[in-house]
Amino acid sequence: MRELIVAPSILSADFSCIEAEVEKISRTPSRFIHLDVMDGKFVPNTTFGPELVKRIAPYCGSMVKDTHLMVANPHEMVEDFIAAGSDLITFHYESYNDDEARLSCIRHIKKAGAKVGMSIKPNTAPEVLLPFFKELDLVLIMSVEPGKGGQKFMENSLQKIAFCRKNIDELGKDIYLEVDGGINQETAKLVVEAGADVLVAGSYIFGHGDYQLRIQGMLDLWAA
Ligand code: DX5
Ligand code: ZN
Repeated sequence: MRELIVAPSILSADFSCIEAEVEKISRTPSRFIHLDVMDGKFVPNTTFGPELVKRIAPYCGSMVKDTHLMVANPHEMVEDFIAAGSDLITFHYESYNDDEARLSCIRHIKKAGAKVGMSIKPNTAPEVLLPFFKELDLVLIMSVEPGKGGQKFMENSLQKIAFCRKNIDELGKDIYLEVDGGINQETAKLVVEAGADVLVAGSYIFGHGDYQLRIQGMLDLWAA
């Protein structure tokens, strides 16, 4: 039975008290916590590495540490992130030029002991993901250009989500369908209708005093 999952992105949290922020999220019904890793190469910004994951891990409770690698060479970081506590590692289709390298990165992550996801940027067609579906635990559709929080949701992600939902259902495999970027109560409704079941939200949750209220509001969309 599928369920709706909210994955707060700590990118918009207060890093001066990040442990307390994560602990606060762990007391909400969020089953994932989304960790955005940027290397200054794949995207212009740089965020954090495995040491931050290790620091917050004791405050995550049972939340899946959903690690989104926006980096040029994801395979080089797999072991360090898993040792730090990452449970699920998603890398970008665009990080590699050929399918052999992509498949090798998928297998590397699985062999090292984590679940694996693959993501596409807004200008990449979802069809490219199909050859990898049977190997993946999660597919991540970016609904903004990766690199920073607080951007506007791109509507072209809706057709991509619907396309992936159809293909996941046809395959009959449990693959999370995650969407990331510009998610708020309104856009959450659209992506859930299109077939997404994991909603990443950064500024919408952390920009409000009552995290629980915003998270629950999105979770209630499932029942609605
Ligand atoms: C963007 C990141 C997102 C970001 C989302 O590159 O991958 O996870 O934190 O932020 P919001 O929800 O503010 O668009
Ligand atoms: Zn992300």
